[in-house]
Amino acid sequence: MAAEAKRTLLVTGAGGQLGTDCVACLSDTWNVISVRRADGDITNATAIADLFTHHRPAVVVNCAAYTQVDACETDQAAAFQLNAEAPGILARESVRIGAHLIHLSTDYVFDGTREVPTPYVEDDATGPASVYGESKLQGEAAVQSATPDAAILRTSWVYGIHGHNFLKAVLARARQVPDAPLRVVNDQHGSPTWTVRLSEQIGAIAEAGLSGVLHATGEGHCTWYDLAQRFFELMDIPVQIEPCTTADFPRPAARPMNSILENARLNQAGLNRMQAWQDDLAAFVSAHRQHLLSAS
Ligand SMILES: NC(=O)c1ccc[n+]([C@@H]2O[C@H](COP(=O)([O-])OP(=O)(O)OC[C@H]3O[C@@H](n4cnc5c(N)ncnc54)[C@H](OP(=O)(O)O)[C@@H]3O)[C@@H](O)[C@H]2O)c1
Repeated sequence: MAAEAKRTLLVTGAGGQLGTDCVACLSDTWNVISVRRADGDITNATAIADLFTHHRPAVVVNCAAYTQVDACETDQAAAFQLNAEAPGILARESVRIGAHLIHLSTDYVFDGTREVPTPYVEDDATGPASVYGESKLQGEAAVQSATPDAAILRTSWVYGIHGHNFLKAVLARARQVPDAPLRVVNDQHGSPTWTVRLSEQIGAIAEAGLSGVLHATGEGHCTWYDLAQRFFELMDIPVQIEPCTTADFPRPAARPMNSILENARLNQAGLNRMQAWQDDLAAFVSAHRQHLLSAS
């Protein structure tokens, strides 16, 4: 008997941190269409309509976003166009062709004032403290107003081997200025999330056709300081790390002090594929230590 044809899954923002690993991780089970910005600008409704009509995906995973949190404060029009309006285009086009949309969102939709370590669950009141958070929250609303069938996947503190992230930044800093102590914020709490694990989670949501708001972050929580400590231990690089406060590092955009999300709905659905952040970090370093060293 002929093997069953793979269903088509289209990834937007396929050149980013998460998008690159999503394409790699899901290609075994799906016919993955990888759409980078140059092949499909998600703010261009005509381009997206043409793309969807041509490929007729069963699933669309939107990894494209304006993710430079501080730049969003000043580049507001572009942030809202990409994070708030474009998800509505993707949702309406998904409805038109009958595709299941999985749209990525963020912990920054919460204000983060809840006492640590009480986590936020999916139904908790939102209240973004930054333009980035507000633009992503409006993107969630744009998707929900187009269809109740989409999955809105809020994640946090994302890292992977592709693109830019906190781990690569602290590694580069430690290697470029090896004699100076590395000061890292120790009063923001959250859950580091590995792009490979999140991609597996996205695959499980796609298979199950899950809808609604879902939290998907690494299990457990830490501070940026804890994360840096554990990372350098695993990398076997001696670095003097000093804890500091958010106030010591003023930034244009406010960060939530408590970014801890509970994967409550995934647990209820029996579909939580996320793992302890410490285990995923160890797997990440084990897989990529040499590459990280040669690239930093
Ligand atoms: N990074 C985090 O810590 C974090 C935390 C919570 C939630 N999230 C969410 O997770 C998702 C993935 O994040 P990420 O870290 O993988 O982001 P990323 O690495 O910044 O990737 C975003 C991608 O979007 C693409 N893009 C930008 N404008 C576009 C446009 N008009 N049309 C199509 N593509 C466009 C970018 O392409 P270019 O490279 O060409 O600009 C880039 O490849 C986002 O929804 C983000 O909000 C991220």
